[in-house]
Amino acid sequence: MFRNYDFYLRGKNTEIYPLICLMDCLFIGQHVIELSSVDSTNNYLIDLSENKSLVEGTVVVAKKQIEGKGQRNNRWASEVGKSLCISILLKPKLDVSQQFLFNKFIALSLCQALNNYSLTTVIKWPNDILIDSKKVAGILIENSIRGNKIEKSIVGIGVNINNNISQFPSATSLADYLNTKPSNSELLELICKNIEKNYFLLKQKPSMINELYHQNLFQKGLVQKFSKNDESFDGIINSVNDNGQLLVDVNGCLEFYNMGEIKFMF
Ligand code: BTN
Repeated sequence: MFRNYDFYLRGKNTEIYPLICLMDCLFIGQHVIELSSVDSTNNYLIDLSENKSLVEGTVVVAKKQIEGKGQRNNRWASEVGKSLCISILLKPKLDVSQQFLFNKFIALSLCQALNNYSLTTVIKWPNDILIDSKKVAGILIENSIRGNKIEKSIVGIGVNINNNISQFPSATSLADYLNTKPSNSELLELICKNIEKNYFLLKQKPSMINELYHQNLFQKGLVQKFSKNDESFDGIINSVNDNGQLLVDVNGCLEFYNMGEIKFMF
């Protein structure tokens, strides 16, 4: 699957591995930077892309991530050899109004990549990936906007492969559902392949991305308990709109919620 490939490395905490070019992809993963240790792969790729011209599809993989960033300024914990921590550089040149569609495309691609292992993963709004209502993977997308276009997108993905997650009751890892632990490189390749496949769809038939996202949306059409300002309520999940708002039918009335405004209760 892989062939050796020259790649650029920076910093003290990097080591050179005989890495890899994802053979089944056209452009994603044709330039892979593997780091032994880094603060955050997203930060690393943001800095590098500001100082060096990088090809679209450049991937950064870290064995150890010390200050992994999660959504809403949370930390993302990972364990050496037990988690996949990657960032991918894309230059989508989409209109800013399509920012959330871009999120949907990445969440869908990650969901499909994991489903390759005969798992049933779903996307919990806005873009967490769950198995059996527990989080197995997370996405942090950091965009640079120029004019009204998304010029550069750093797509950070963390997957729990066989993490020790017993202290996190709302998390799970792939190993809990598989007989054989997937290798990091195999998982990386699957993710890149699915992103690449859907990237063409995103550009040519964006409505399809929206449809597929909703087909995989956690609790769509079902009654879900939420909490808002410490009060709980039930609602039926209707959809996620272009602004990334969750549309919920509450007592027959369609309510629009922004990210962070409500919490799912289990
Ligand atoms: C979340 O669900 O809160 C998002 C988690 C994203 C974690 C990944 S790990 C690789 C990349 N680098 C980071 O610092 N964060 C993302």
